[in-house]
Amino acid sequence: MKLEAVIFDLDGVITDTAHYHFLAWKHLAEQIGVPFDEVFNEKLKGVDRMGSLNLILAQGDLSFSEEEKVALATQKNMHYQELIAGMTPADLLPGAVQALDSVRAAGLKVGLASVSRNAFTVLESLGITDKFDYIVDASTIQRGKPDPEIFLKAAHELGVAPEHCLGIEDAVAGVASIKAAGMYAVGVGDPEVLSQADQVIPDLTAFNIQAFLQ
Ligand code: BG6
Ligand code: MG
Repeated sequence: MKLEAVIFDLDGVITDTAHYHFLAWKHLAEQIGVPFDEVFNEKLKGVDRMGSLNLILAQGDLSFSEEEKVALATQKNMHYQELIAGMTPADLLPGAVQALDSVRAAGLKVGLASVSRNAFTVLESLGITDKFDYIVDASTIQRGKPDPEIFLKAAHELGVAPEHCLGIEDAVAGVASIKAAGMYAVGVGDPEVLSQADQVIPDLTAFNIQAFLQ
């Protein structure tokens, strides 16, 4: 494989916002009587806001009108935004900046493919917006992960063929999206959970771009 671009997920890869999404969904789920734990949360990782709410409602065998669902999703998002309000560059996960900088220093393109509509705010708080050559605007994506649309859009905008891209993800749905896009998938987390990935690393301190360039 001739690698020309690396496309990063945000939540759970570059910063631990996956935990804030977990806390906000858990709060909402318990409020409507749906049991919520880390195992069920794994199914929500990488899934967009409405998709996540629909999974929670299905888990509780609940059905709400569209209007009620929008109100619940808005409530979760407001809680999430309170949780991320104080974020600073200190919230970058170990190895994140080094990984981003090493890709650019190697002459490759750097992309971001997060389905979060809060991604631009989080990147600004972390102070890393300018480390990306292209950031997908989640509001322009029709089909969330595991559909390949978001990774294909990033590759297209970077001007790189999907087979020359490597995607990095912490979510099962995210790894599936990368593989469906025809890219090499690096999972960040538990190899048993991310079994579809080509390679799994515990965190970005273990990401070595040089290993992919030889
Ligand atoms: C993903 C997270 O990055 O973004 C999901 O893994 C989250 O947990 C999704 O639901 C959508 O985020 P937001 O900020 O648009 O509600
Ligand atoms: Mg993620």
